[in-house]
Amino acid sequence: KRTTPASGLPIAFHGTVIHSKALDDLEILDNCFLLVANNGRIQSIQADVEPSQINSLLLANGYAPDVFPVKRLKRGQFLCPGFVDTHNHAPQYAQRGMGRGIDLLEWLNKVTFAHESKFEDPEYARRMYTSCVTGFLQQGITTASYYGSHHGQATRILADVCFEKGQRALVGKCNMNRNAPDWYRDASVSDSLRETRDFIHHVQQLDPDRCLVKPILTPRFAISCEPELLEGIGGIAREHPDLPIQTHFNEASQEIAFTKQLFPEFKTEADLYERYGLLNDRSILAHCIFLQEEEITRIQELRCGVAHCPISNTTMQDFMIAPIREYLRRGIKVGLGTDSGGGYSSSILDAMKHAFIVSVARQTVTKGEDPALSLSEGFFLATMGGAQVCGLDDRIGNFMVGKEFDALEIHSIDLDRPGVMSPVEDYDSTQVIFEKFLMTGDDRNIVKVYVGGRSVKP
Ligand code: GUN
Ligand code: FE
Repeated sequence: KRTTPASGLPIAFHGTVIHSKALDDLEILDNCFLLVANNGRIQSIQADVEPSQINSLLLANGYAPDVFPVKRLKRGQFLCPGFVDTHNHAPQYAQRGMGRGIDLLEWLNKVTFAHESKFEDPEYARRMYTSCVTGFLQQGITTASYYGSHHGQATRILADVCFEKGQRALVGKCNMNRNAPDWYRDASVSDSLRETRDFIHHVQQLDPDRCLVKPILTPRFAISCEPELLEGIGGIAREHPDLPIQTHFNEASQEIAFTKQLFPEFKTEADLYERYGLLNDRSILAHCIFLQEEEITRIQELRCGVAHCPISNTTMQDFMIAPIREYLRRGIKVGLGTDSGGGYSSSILDAMKHAFIVSVARQTVTKGEDPALSLSEGFFLATMGGAQVCGLDDRIGNFMVGKEFDALEIHSIDLDRPGVMSPVEDYDSTQVIFEKFLMTGDDRNIVKVYVGGRSVKP
């Protein structure tokens, strides 16, 4: 079952390389030499290199010329970091976009739980998760933070599939023991916690050295967890200070009202999750739409990350806009999530475009106080911001030397090779070609996908 993620040989490129160094610092490197060592990590990156200088650069890095090919990227082709999906429900893969016009809790009860319950069958789980992980890799998602179903076995299969297919992933067995039908929930608090511990153990055994796949604590949200279950999950979080945590946070008014009814002792959701030990610098909080001022301050102090999911926020029942500019202003970590299947799309390019749309709406309603996201900020959220939210920014997110090579090779199109992406014209700058890809490109332009130096595009 084990595979070696990195290929035996180094890989080298010469051409355009684009990555984010910071939110407002997009770096476009033309004629760049990029070398990936055979451990899958970036060994060297240098811009403005002439073809005649490549051999001496190889030698300087300890490689004789001609031992392995240097891939030459032509005009219109470039490398960028892989996309990070900070919020994804793997068992909703077959129901993306289904159930329009009903509110969140009704959508869970009428559409979602029935779909997720099918993952009780391990054969179904393996088939569906193989399709899901393959589909997301196809879209250039090199890292995903997945909610599994509540089933321990199916979620172990999800982790196995990510590992086998070579996708970097955080995978969580979904904890839920109430406010769901008896045919789709954890039978008891102790069952839920035992399955969670078994799951963590399984994933840690899977890949102890490289940590391609990591477990993540996944209480669905407070509505579906009894206080004792939240308490228990908080206990596991304390025992394992390396484990990330994910949940849904201030997503919808109806959800917030019901949470308040179930937990009248807490003033806010931030109070609630903090009390159970679930709010810290490892937390990935999905949505973050309706936070009170004191909650924003608290998640800032605690260094929680925000998974911004503008597709599901605007296409389910309501049109909801998270105050992303405010989070960024305060230095809160923000990444993008497809929220597949509440979100209809499995593409981070789509999530980024929706993020632009809602940020323009927010700019309008705040009369310019919250300026819309720029192109480079959107790209940052899709890559480096997501890496920060997932606690992986020391390993991935951009092309700093020493990081793992999680990357996409993009081929734009020209008039002779029509497609959806706007054709590149002779006079287009690299910046314009990049913008054309982000705004009109799709997976047909993502010709290769690398995770840790391994080529994984299906
Ligand atoms: N809140 C609790 N579960 C879910 C879910 O599956 N999707 C979304 N969007 N919100 C949730
Ligand atoms: Fe969700």
